[in-house]
Amino acid sequence: MVKPCLPVFSISSFLCCVFLSSFFVNTLVSLSLPRPDQIEILLAFKNEFPFPKCNFSRWAYSNPRTNSWTNKDVNSFDGVVFDNETGVVTKLELYGACLSGTLNANSSLFRLHHLRFLDLSYNHFDSSSFLTELGRLSNLEFLYLSDMGLDGEIPSSISNLSRLTGLRLSDNELSGSFSPLYNLTKLSSLIVSKNHFSGNIPCSLLTMPNLSFIDLSQNHLSDSLETMNCSSSSKLERLFLGYNLFSGPILEPISKLSNLKSLDLSFQNTTYPINFVSLAFKSLENLVLSGNSISRLNTRWSGSPNLRSLYLDNCNITEFPTFIKDLHKLEFLNISDNRLKGEVPEWLWNLPSLSSLLLSHNSLDSFEGSLEVLLNSSLSAIDLSWNAFRGSLPIISPGLGFMLASNNNFSGDIPLALCNQSYLRVLDLSRNNFSGSVPPCLSKSVEALNLRYNDLMGRLPDIFNKNGSLRLLDVGYNQITGKLPRSLANCTSLEILNIESNGITDTFPFWLKDLPNLKIIVLGSNRFHGPIYSPQHPLSFPQLRIIDISDNKFSGSLPPNYFANWSKPMIKMPEDNKGLKMELEKILTSYTAIDFSGNRLQGEIPESIGLLKSLFSFNLSNNDFTGHIPSSLAKLTRLESLDLSRNQLSGNIPQELATLSFLEFIDMSHNKLTGRIPQSTQFAGQPKSSFEGNIDLCGLPLQETCFKGNGAPTSQI
Ligand SMILES: *[C@@H]1O[C@H](CO)[C@@H](O)[C@H](O)[C@H]1NC(C)=O
Ligand SMILES: *[C@@H]1O[C@H](CO)[C@@H](O)[C@H](O)[C@H]1NC(C)=O
Ligand SMILES: *[C@@H]1O[C@H](CO)[C@@H](O)[C@H](O)[C@H]1NC(C)=O
Ligand SMILES: *[C@@H]1O[C@H](CO)[C@@H](O)[C@H](O)[C@H]1NC(C)=O
Ligand SMILES: *[C@@H]1O[C@H](CO)[C@@H](O)[C@H](O)[C@H]1NC(C)=O
Ligand SMILES: *[C@@H]1O[C@H](CO)[C@@H](O)[C@H](O)[C@H]1NC(C)=O
Ligand SMILES: *[C@@H]1O[C@H](CO)[C@@H](O)[C@H](O)[C@H]1NC(C)=O
Ligand SMILES: *[C@@H]1O[C@H](CO)[C@@H](O)[C@H](O)[C@H]1NC(C)=O
Ligand SMILES: *[C@@H]1O[C@H](CO)[C@@H](O)[C@H](O)[C@H]1NC(C)=O
Ligand SMILES: *[C@@H]1O[C@H](CO)[C@@H](O)[C@H](O)[C@H]1NC(C)=O
Ligand SMILES: *[C@@H]1O[C@H](CO)[C@@H](O)[C@H](O)[C@H]1NC(C)=O
Ligand SMILES: *[C@@H]1O[C@H](CO)[C@@H](O)[C@H](O)[C@H]1NC(C)=O
Repeated sequence: MVKPCLPVFSISSFLCCVFLSSFFVNTLVSLSLPRPDQIEILLAFKNEFPFPKCNFSRWAYSNPRTNSWTNKDVNSFDGVVFDNETGVVTKLELYGACLSGTLNANSSLFRLHHLRFLDLSYNHFDSSSFLTELGRLSNLEFLYLSDMGLDGEIPSSISNLSRLTGLRLSDNELSGSFSPLYNLTKLSSLIVSKNHFSGNIPCSLLTMPNLSFIDLSQNHLSDSLETMNCSSSSKLERLFLGYNLFSGPILEPISKLSNLKSLDLSFQNTTYPINFVSLAFKSLENLVLSGNSISRLNTRWSGSPNLRSLYLDNCNITEFPTFIKDLHKLEFLNISDNRLKGEVPEWLWNLPSLSSLLLSHNSLDSFEGSLEVLLNSSLSAIDLSWNAFRGSLPIISPGLGFMLASNNNFSGDIPLALCNQSYLRVLDLSRNNFSGSVPPCLSKSVEALNLRYNDLMGRLPDIFNKNGSLRLLDVGYNQITGKLPRSLANCTSLEILNIESNGITDTFPFWLKDLPNLKIIVLGSNRFHGPIYSPQHPLSFPQLRIIDISDNKFSGSLPPNYFANWSKPMIKMPEDNKGLKMELEKILTSYTAIDFSGNRLQGEIPESIGLLKSLFSFNLSNNDFTGHIPSSLAKLTRLESLDLSRNQLSGNIPQELATLSFLEFIDMSHNKLTGRIPQSTQFAGQPKSSFEGNIDLCGLPLQETCFKGNGAPTSQI
């Protein structure tokens, strides 16, 4: 067997040796494992949940892991770790494993006595009664039971788990007492956020012998912390109490926990003035006080000299807190969303360690000192957006990477100094009053440049070179004229190009079609003209999701196969990604749209539109399209919005469109359509105006029935 691997120096024999030796090692290792009785227990557990049901809308990344468990292949037990010496199951990682139904007291799970790690998070069992059985797994060191719909109290059986060091019970409906935890002398990390615990936080919890991290945020804890008198021997380093209902003084009592490094007390229900003077903290590095009304601020800070990050956002603060001057190690300050007005004090820029400063959503209007005050600061990120700053943009420090200054009244030219910012990655100057032209330079490091809604004029400079990092360029809503710079084709990283509402006069940029990452292109409301079809340059746009060329002067007709080689994201039906909860996430990963409205396009609507199966929105309104509405539109099963209004379309509306069950918006008004409107709730639910201005349409939502006086249908179906 080893023979072919004798030292013959060729690549194939080398590979062969590697293959055989790794095979050999694997075989050796698995000799002693896993123990047959453990396999039997696992298979019995699997059989208790024979039909895993994944709820992707709740847990996007669910995976019916137990399906891989078969006695044919002991290496296939996904989520299971066997001890490599004894062959027993020591780790069971079944988060989001699509288990539902009842976990019985007699479940095989509780026979896995050697388990040291158990994660059942993101599964939903009918009842929480199984919790009492967990005490039998007395070797557990880690127990994770988040987001499982658990209710009632923390079961006393947990106190049997004397080896537990990590416990996660977040996102359930637990309430009552924490006392079952007090015996867990090894517990070091406890996460019980997003539950229904109320009352106070007992010192017995905060001073558990080895506890260094507690997350109790998003509960209903409300008692005053004033009564708390915990011994300072607590090992607690990180305490998260955000989004509870504590009243009275919140900071002083907790400062007695002298080993704390991170404290989150955001969004409580206290009106009591926060006192920064007599604090006992020795080691505090991160303090989050967001969302508490801090009306009076001390001028001095006492306590830990090591504070590195401070969140004072949303605190109803009216004056810059001068105690910040004492914080020589401060790296991060968020004081957004307050009522600061007037000048930004000059001393801020002299803080030796400050690297991120967030000042947005205040009413600040100017900078104390000269325009060069920022020059020597150690900042790498600054957010000035949503204030009332006016005048010129200050000159920024050379190391700045992020500069957000949108929604102010900055005016004058965009400073040319920005060209030399070799670390600048994000520059957002949108919604200001900048005038002049777009600077004729762009640092290679810039990834996002947003100049939307200013008064910029002149041409876009032809400055884009090949090794740039640009991913987003938005110059929409200015008065830019001239042509699109051809060097944009060098921007292989570009994902979003938006030049809408300017005065750009050019033909369709066929030359952008190969940009490998371009997802969104918006050319709307400019003076583009000429055809959008070229036999020499068939469009590919490999990653395109959204194209908006509306309100220009594009003309000409489109061949039937126009959409044939369009971008994959439009053609390919996305895989079952129903789990995408967030709207933004949905837009970035799956929203697709074509808007050709308000041009002079003519001829027939290309039949090949039916290939763009994942299209959400299709708008051809206000053009000169003629001929029939293609029945291939019925293949766009995800279509939510279809606007064909104000064209010259004739004939019947294809009855197949009645099957488009996601259509929310339909407009076919002002064409030359005849016959029966397809009968479906989507069509019938539209306003009448969506079908008005045609020759002879009938059926809902129009009042005209499709049967005239003599009982004969006005047109065939
Ligand atoms: C799936 O999760 C959603 C959101 O939590 C819930 O509304 C729905 O009832 C769940 N579906 C099933 C079948 O459990
Ligand atoms: C078993 O695994 C541990 C680490 O998990 C390792 O240190 C040990 O050498 C392994 N024993 C054998 C026999 O492979
Ligand atoms: C386990 O308990 C359930 C309900 O208590 C019962 O229906 C089932 O037969 C029991 N299974 C075994 C194997 O004892
Ligand atoms: C606690 O653990 C022991 C083994 O350490 C076990 O015998 C006993 O049944 C467990 N008690 C509970 C309530 O689960
Ligand atoms: C927990 O501690 C209390 C008092 O220290 C003791 O009476 C009780 O027996 C302990 N419980 C367990 C399960 O160890
Ligand atoms: C305390 O917890 C730490 C982890 O935070 C762990 O390394 C240590 O072994 C624990 N000590 C005891 C006595 O359990
Ligand atoms: C807090 O406890 C200490 C001793 O642990 C005691 O001296 C002090 O009086 C207590 N304070 C309050 C307000 O109960
Ligand atoms: C918040 O505090 C006020 C008094 O300051 C109290 O009236 C109110 O009930 C508290 N809200 C909650 C939800 O506890
Ligand atoms: C903010 O502070 C002002 C006084 O400066 C006070 O009148 C107002 O009630 C505070 N607002 C909130 C939400 O606490
Ligand atoms: C700063 O605070 C604002 C307002 O609460 C918040 O929206 C923003 O996410 C915070 N930024 C950071 C980086 O923490
Ligand atoms: C920046 O620092 C240099 C050298 O430390 C100093 O000469 C200069 O005056 C400083 N500039 C500003 C605007 O503070
Ligand atoms: C960028 O594009 C322009 C025009 O297409 C071209 O002439 C130039 O060589 C390109 N520059 C680099 C650095 O790739």
